[in-house]
Amino acid sequence: MRTITDTAAMQAQGLAWRRGGLRVGLVPTMGFLHTGHTSLMDLARRHCDVLVASIFVNPIQFGLNEDLDQYPRDLEGDAAKCQAHGVDLLFMPSDFYPPGFRTSVRVAQLTEILCGVDRPEHFDGVTSVVARFFGVIQPSVAVFGEKDFQQLAVIRRMVRDLAMPVEILSGPLVRQADGIALSSRNVNLSAVDRQRALSLSGALRELRAQVQAGERDLAKLVARARAQVDCDRLEYLELRDGDDLELLSELRAPARAFVAARYGETRLIDNLSVL
Ligand code: PAJ
Repeated sequence: MRTITDTAAMQAQGLAWRRGGLRVGLVPTMGFLHTGHTSLMDLARRHCDVLVASIFVNPIQFGLNEDLDQYPRDLEGDAAKCQAHGVDLLFMPSDFYPPGFRTSVRVAQLTEILCGVDRPEHFDGVTSVVARFFGVIQPSVAVFGEKDFQQLAVIRRMVRDLAMPVEILSGPLVRQADGIALSSRNVNLSAVDRQRALSLSGALRELRAQVQAGERDLAKLVARARAQVDCDRLEYLELRDGDDLELLSELRAPARAFVAARYGETRLIDNLSVL
């Protein structure tokens, strides 16, 4: 596995592969890799000739009071995991944004709901960095996780709207055995909060069980689930359409439940298809 830290060198390699007719796959990450990330590498590997993973803690997707400085890092461990999961090239840019960088890519509406309410500029930072990754690396296929379901929807919209020649694939949300969604941020939880955070996946699973048992009263389902979450601050728990993320006024497929909650400074999200 090669590592490139220089953005111009990465672009030269990406363009050379593309000219050579190779199908380049990309898994963008912010590092501190876990099985959720490596599952995307395994998936990408089956859809490309050369696989690039990127590790870049993207400053422009963090708000002023967010955890950019506390974002966990483990470059050595990450490199070993990439190598073990078939990555050919690890891109860890040290000079990603050019001096004078002024451009922002914004997807309207989809970025103003769910996580966009508490993180109003977050998705602009995500779409801008991903658009630049696509320009630099020239992938034919890029893989994102359903853990960040809204992010996936926003990126699909960007690619469609801007006619970017990149196929977007998604991988399922990977959980630990006790149900908690794997997240790089879980290490920032105290043991007590780690235990309380089980109530997120617990509430979503219970909501799904009630739907399966025939409950169709949306307000009741949401109120019960909200009451089950044990956290410092519940940002949202909502039932939305699993395709366009519109709020549901009545329960119909595809329905998906979304939750975001704070434990001290740590913000966790989860989602589950319920119908
Ligand atoms: P990061 O949080 O590191 O996640 C990188 C990719 O891994 C994303 O596509 C995310 O959805 C996926 N992922 C994380 N946890 C997962 C889990 N438990 N199961 C399945 N997939 C999981 O998302 C980002 O970084 C950034 O916003 C990025 C797209 C890299 C842009 O900076």
